[in-house]
Amino acid sequence: MKKFIKLVGCGLLLVSSLALAQTPYTEDSTYRGLGGKEGIKKIVDTFIVLITTDPRIKDSFTDFDMEQLNARLQEQFCEFAGGPCKYTGKYHDKAMEGVGPVRDMKTVHQDLKITNAMFNALTEDLQIALERHDVPSSISNKLVAKLAPMQRDIVTK
Ligand code: HEM
Repeated sequence: MKKFIKLVGCGLLLVSSLALAQTPYTEDSTYRGLGGKEGIKKIVDTFIVLITTDPRIKDSFTDFDMEQLNARLQEQFCEFAGGPCKYTGKYHDKAMEGVGPVRDMKTVHQDLKITNAMFNALTEDLQIALERHDVPSSISNKLVAKLAPMQRDIVTK
């Protein structure tokens, strides 16, 4: 009986070590560089103040729920940075009848008439927010690089 227990124990150990070995390594250095969830919250709070007072883009945000936007941006930045979050926005992987799954950011921004100049203004504001919270440029560049490909979905004008 003892032998049997030992054998089962060894088997379990082997299976769990194999499972651990196969767990993909999640690269979260950008998340940590942003200061984790707390740091991201501070950055997004500053970013929201900047975009809603920036004369180049502030008019785009009137009539929208900025608390909601703040929460969604925190999730999105955290996810992009390799942190333990998931963007739960209302258009995430939305399936549109007759169209199939649509890219979330495209749907969110499609009626907002956003130009390249507006997109660049928002990116500048994000960089200012990151600088204000002493995020090293090696880290902020990584976050901005993740957002850059969205330009073709977001700019419609
Ligand atoms: C890299 C650039 C951008 C990113 C990552 C981004 C991200 C987001 C996210 C995550 C949301 C929340 C959607 C939800 O509720 O689930 C959102 C909404 C919104 N964004 Fe952007 N955005 C970008 C560029 C812009 C620009 C350039 C403008 C205008 C100047 C803009 C205006 C808005 C507005 C008005 C909403 C609210 C839409 C709604 O609640 O229906 N965004 N954006």
